[in-house]
Amino acid sequence: MTDLGLPAVRGASVHDPARPADDRLIDRFGRVATDLRVSLTDRCNLRCTYCMPAEGLDWTPTDELLSDDEIVRLVRIGVQRLGIQEIRFTGGEPTLRVGLESILRQVSSLRPRPDISLTTNGIGLSRRAGALVAAGVDRLNVSLDTLIPERFERITRRNRLADVLDGMAAARAAGLDPVKVNTVLLRGVNDDEAVPLLRYCLEHGYELRFIEQMPLDAQHGWQRTEMITADEILGRLRTAFDLVPDPGERGGAPAERWLVRELDPRPGSGAAILGAVGVIASVTRPFCGDCDRTRLTGDGQLRTCLFARSETDLRAMLRGGAGDAEIADAWRGAMWAKAAGHGIDDPGFLQPDRPMSSIGG
Ligand SMILES: C[S@@+](CC[C@H](N)C(=O)[O-])C[C@H]1O[C@@H](n2cnc3c(N)ncnc32)[C@H](O)[C@@H]1O
Ligand code: SF4
Repeated sequence: MTDLGLPAVRGASVHDPARPADDRLIDRFGRVATDLRVSLTDRCNLRCTYCMPAEGLDWTPTDELLSDDEIVRLVRIGVQRLGIQEIRFTGGEPTLRVGLESILRQVSSLRPRPDISLTTNGIGLSRRAGALVAAGVDRLNVSLDTLIPERFERITRRNRLADVLDGMAAARAAGLDPVKVNTVLLRGVNDDEAVPLLRYCLEHGYELRFIEQMPLDAQHGWQRTEMITADEILGRLRTAFDLVPDPGERGGAPAERWLVRELDPRPGSGAAILGAVGVIASVTRPFCGDCDRTRLTGDGQLRTCLFARSETDLRAMLRGGAGDAEIADAWRGAMWAKAAGHGIDDPGFLQPDRPMSSIGG
């Protein structure tokens, strides 16, 4: 395990004799990881202010990134030896990965076949949505923070709003249903758009999820007092909509889901459910107790949490000739040592050295 600073957990190690014999990715708090997030690249064609600086970052050199074959091998180990059921490809911007479709095809041919999803900023999706579905994508999340072109440019430092909206429509036309939309609200920038964004998504059949801004920006500029909280988001939505808690099982899902009705339906139109909205309150209502995630960075480092302070170097194992069983056991050992929570509220909280774009959001 590579120590990146303060250890997140003490007293647990890869060879902890207290770890029961179990093929799955279990931890000391009764959680079982079945959802693998894979970052395919740390590069991006946008520069969202809450994620990276205008000039971009020192991108990981290609030879340090996992090759397509290495990614597929690790995913196969996860699926066939460790009980991984869902794979989400992300980044950086995963659509910048040259071998994306090939990776998707190989992962979708694994048995048991995992559920495959992609988180993207939507640039280029209008041309590629069909090919991505054909290659195996089952579900798609597109990030969209505003419907106003000037604001889009201010937030992402690129003038590409129309591309993103076209990409979302193409994804829906390619049969992805629902296309999920991820939104981060920023105080004084787009926090007046909660209602218009939800209306837009309801009208177009997309499912919107608001994400609380987290301390994962490369510039380390996050301030708790500046973030828009889940309560604020719900308060803004309730000025226009009636929100009914979704009675469905939440399971390990990070979003609290609400069914949406018009606050003041027109006479005769009744109180029909218009759709659903989610709020991912990672900071103010952490869901660590139900976390079912394990993460792989583009350079082959295993992370147990977005906020982990240590990593396990699976790339070194791959390139050092380790067998599948040995890699699987290192993975189990790392997950056994997973911390109970992300600790954002702890006085000693330290933001991880890797930014979101490198970990894979
Ligand atoms: C890191 S991006 C990677 C995938 C792709 N580039 C995209 O933007 O969808 C994944 C998600 O993380 C979100 N994100 C990035 N930085 C964040 C932060 N500091 N706090 C909360 N969410 C963040 C983005 O809005 C996006 O929805
Ligand atoms: S949030 Fe996604 S689109 Fe925006 S800069 Fe980060 S990686 Fe790129």
